[in-house]
Amino acid sequence: MPGNPVLDAIRHRRSIRKFTDQDVSRREVKAVLEAGRWAPSGLNNQPWRFLVIRRGDPRQAAVAGLTKYGHVVERAATLICVFLDKDAVYSPMKDHQSAGAVIQNMLLAAHSLDLGAVWLGEIVNRGDEVVRALDLPDTLELQAVIALGRPDQKGSSKRKELGDLMLEDF
Ligand SMILES: Cc1cc2nc3c(=O)[nH]c(=O)nc-3n(C[C@H](O)[C@H](O)[C@H](O)COP(=O)(O)O)c2cc1C
Repeated sequence: MPGNPVLDAIRHRRSIRKFTDQDVSRREVKAVLEAGRWAPSGLNNQPWRFLVIRRGDPRQAAVAGLTKYGHVVERAATLICVFLDKDAVYSPMKDHQSAGAVIQNMLLAAHSLDLGAVWLGEIVNRGDEVVRALDLPDTLELQAVIALGRPDQKGSSKRKELGDLMLEDF
């Protein structure tokens, strides 16, 4: 379906891990957050919570120190930390799935705004430490950090063929 902006964005979005020194505006960050807010969730319970860390905030270095992708975190113009509020969870699997929908919405929104972004998941291995370093309540569970900025690389990746994913011929 050529010319379909949603399908094009899904197809052409790539993880971007190198950013220029240019900033991302508050308006652009808000648009990305709004895209996350409109993600679907089971029972529409919206168990996600967001924290934005802009360049120059000392918390950026604190977060960078808690992941092997610290070099990506340090170079980002903005970080969006996505949490689940454990008190709002009604079904762990479904609530974690909805966090994934939030993050993908945000990545697609960033792409549509010509921003670069990457979903940083390795950092959840030290999620509790991130929550403590950010001085947040322990009712929050880190889902991912999205590093956001003006892209300084193209990004590339591949996918398995559809036929290799199908359980029967389609
Ligand atoms: C759950 C999850 C965790 C990820 N964690 C990281 C990460 O910690 N560091 C990183 O550089 N990329 C991370 N990624 C990005 C993937 O490496 C990337 O999406 C994949 O290689 C496909 O590339 P593409 O996004 O450019 O299509 C993560 C992606 C997902 C969905």
